[in-house]
Amino acid sequence: MSQSRILVIYAHRRPAASRVNKAMVQAAASLPNVTVHDLMARYPDYRIDVEAEQQLLREHDVIVLQFPFYWYSTPAILKEWQDAVLAYGFAYGSNGDKLRGKKLLVATTTGGPGEAYQAGGYNQYTLSELLRPLQATANLAGMAYQPVFSTSGVIGMDDAALDKVATAYHQRLAAL
Ligand SMILES: Cc1cc2nc3c(=O)[nH]c(=O)nc-3n(C[C@H](O)[C@H](O)[C@H](O)COP(=O)(O)O)c2cc1C
Repeated sequence: MSQSRILVIYAHRRPAASRVNKAMVQAAASLPNVTVHDLMARYPDYRIDVEAEQQLLREHDVIVLQFPFYWYSTPAILKEWQDAVLAYGFAYGSNGDKLRGKKLLVATTTGGPGEAYQAGGYNQYTLSELLRPLQATANLAGMAYQPVFSTSGVIGMDDAALDKVATAYHQRLAAL
């Protein structure tokens, strides 16, 4: 079987200031079948080229949405990307079958520690619950939603822990 073509849609408000996602992106980019697409680098003005984005999606079998968790959600540029790119007739609706059968992997990092994301914890809800809009979007588009790749408590993470995350991400992508 040929290797799946993986597209990492990377969204970070300030990519230059990133530690964890930057390490993950570097690990991802070292795989030959992975294309990393940095939304903020490409669209600093948030003006998404819908045609170009849809073409990129068509060319890949696995779509990874990688982002730091912001306000229990995605960074704004990734929400704008969803609103513009996942259009009627492309991702859903009549003839909207262009993403059907592709895999969707959410890869996210949270400042909050793992135990904060549970009923009774600091944030009350699990990450799976908070990511339901992305799961519902995958369902609507006929995509196979994968178990989330998440790393919690990332603020102040030391270099050894950072290396571990990058290695685990590399392995996860390689197995897709
Ligand atoms: C605008 C903003 C909103 C954030 N919201 C959350 C949040 O809702 N929950 C959380 O656990 N961490 C939150 N954080 C922390 C980030 O998730 C954390 O800084 C990020 O995952 C670190 O990754 P990086 O090194 O790639 O920037 C927020 C950070 C910023 C800048």
